[in-house]
Amino acid sequence: MNHKQDKLEAPERIKELNPAATLMRIGLKENDVLCDIGAGTGVFTVPAARITKNKVYGLDNDKDMLRIIKQKAETECLKNIELIEVEGEHFSLPDYIADIVLMVTVLHEIENSQEFLAEAKRILKNGGKIAVIEFHKWQTPKGPPPGHRISKKEIISRLYNAGFAVWEDFDLGENYNCLIFKLNSPA
Ligand SMILES: C[S@@+](CC[C@H](N)C(=O)[O-])C[C@H]1O[C@@H](n2cnc3c(N)ncnc32)[C@H](O)[C@@H]1O
Repeated sequence: MNHKQDKLEAPERIKELNPAATLMRIGLKENDVLCDIGAGTGVFTVPAARITKNKVYGLDNDKDMLRIIKQKAETECLKNIELIEVEGEHFSLPDYIADIVLMVTVLHEIENSQEFLAEAKRILKNGGKIAVIEFHKWQTPKGPPPGHRISKKEIISRLYNAGFAVWEDFDLGENYNCLIFKLNSPA
């Protein structure tokens, strides 16, 4: 385990994010395609691949992270996980492929989130959802300094500019919130 993996898989983080239950709450169903953008070590990618029989795409710009997910998928014989290395802000995926696009504690790390969100929109099916999990904007026991976090208002504004409206909003423990978006006016 490297330091990044230690942090992402800290038991208290997993307990709070509760990935399988959160994916169900977001609405992941057994035939859905899910794209986990900034998948890290697969904290959500792997449980998603146990819930749906369809494809789960794990995207990250860090090859080491993708390698960790690959090992986990092999250990569990999860054949529905496909891993994609992100270069720049482009996702190597066809248009309208995902029922759910998931971004867990990644949006605050993205410099050009406009292009990133345009890509998320491009790969989303009509009627699909984008789920964004981020740290609360205020100081909490875990997470980056508040100045590096993005507020709910800011997330909603960025998604609104990309063509999305809030569908659901809930907290995950004392550190995180989850916002679910749908297209404002599906084409
Ligand atoms: C804080 S980690 C979260 C990982 C995972 N979503 C989780 O919650 O366990 C953020 C991840 O986003 C990835 N990332 C950062 N910028 C990215 C980009 N432009 N494209 C794709 N992945 C990115 C990082 O490599 C890292 O694995």
